[in-house]
Amino acid sequence: MNHIVFGVTGGIAAYKAVEAVRQLVLRGCDVKVVMTEHATRLVGPETFRAVSGNPVAVSLFDAEGKPIEHIYLARDADLVIVAPATANLLAKMAHGIADDLLTTTLLATRAPVLLAPAMNNLMYRHPATQHNLRLLRERGVHFVGPESGALACGEEGEGRMAEPQQIVDAAMGIFALEGDLSGKRVLVTAGGTREPLDPVRYIGNRSSGKMGYALAAASRRMGAEVTLVSGPTHLQPPAGVELVRVETAAEMREAVMAVAPGCDAVIMAAAVADFAPRESSGDKIKRRGKESLTLELVRTPDILGELSEGRAAGQVLVGFAAETGDLLARAREKLGAKGVDILVANDVSLPGSGFDADYNRAVLLFRDGTERALDLMPKAELAALIMREVAGLLGGKARERP
Ligand code: PMT
Repeated sequence: MNHIVFGVTGGIAAYKAVEAVRQLVLRGCDVKVVMTEHATRLVGPETFRAVSGNPVAVSLFDAEGKPIEHIYLARDADLVIVAPATANLLAKMAHGIADDLLTTTLLATRAPVLLAPAMNNLMYRHPATQHNLRLLRERGVHFVGPESGALACGEEGEGRMAEPQQIVDAAMGIFALEGDLSGKRVLVTAGGTREPLDPVRYIGNRSSGKMGYALAAASRRMGAEVTLVSGPTHLQPPAGVELVRVETAAEMREAVMAVAPGCDAVIMAAAVADFAPRESSGDKIKRRGKESLTLELVRTPDILGELSEGRAAGQVLVGFAAETGDLLARAREKLGAKGVDILVANDVSLPGSGFDADYNRAVLLFRDGTERALDLMPKAELAALIMREVAGLLGGKARERP
């Protein structure tokens, strides 16, 4: 059973923390809620006691007079979550201020910490808050959100707390992170490529980059030095990861080939275009006088194929297969054809899975012929499972067998 200390600070979003706690309990976690005094003005401790099934702690000196409660909480936790995490909490945590039960617990714990910031957009954008966020990220603190949208103060903007389900998914992703990649170099590709037709148009695909970014984040959390070669996305790169932005398949190939030789593992999650226009017009293609337009497309370089042919001994290669039918048959063919150690097969026609979704359902196919079918799960969790397998192949933790 996973033991979670769930901190609640005084933000309006505290009401959403109730649902997050409830969902964590449903997932089989033991959740102990710690509230700040301000938080108790927004949601009563009784509510959290009812959903968690545990007493709720607020003061450093509780009724039984146990002045070192924070040490027990900190020591027994597998994960500490704070949701909502106000600007004040971030500032205190960044600077080691411990003046109540929650902040002393945060200072005393060695467990991973997950924060769900929530505040007014101007407070979020303030240089002091941004500096504190950077400090905490550098220390390996995990974050979920904030999102953009309508804020409790009536303004619109960044600062809205992540939804309970996102908080639970992020927590599960952290629990799935076992295995050690410290001292290893990992290259991950993400997103789709864009093949230009003219200066304003391109042939592209629906990849959001979420799967690849989750793999880069998981690799980094497991201690690897990570290079992320990414097609255009709207995502923030994970902290501590070297980002190389590319646009076309040819640029992706060049970036990958420059970095791959020094890497212990290469994970090709990018949706690389298979074909690109033979020529890209220097001027915008005009519509006038044309009833139709014929484009000639040529094959793009097969980056994964080239990696597999030229790879150094011991390098682990992971490919993806995005299919819309006959998943296993096509994936088994690709496993052999691409010469990879692990092929992650995903059926991208399933609703709520694959392209641009937060979840994915995959089957892992291994070079030795074993296969492992996985349930639909958050991409963060799938990424952690894949990287755990990679760590196993690189000589870390033993591989989990189906
Ligand atoms: O980005 P998201 O929105 O999160 O979506 C995730 C995803 C669906 C894009 C991801 O899970 C995925 O399946 N990525 C691979 C998509 C793909 O291009 O699949 P493929 O079956 O066409 O290619 C097989 C493998 O060859 C892939 O590892 C691909 O990166 C690689 N490839 C493909 C073409 C090419 N020219 N060079 C390559 O290296």
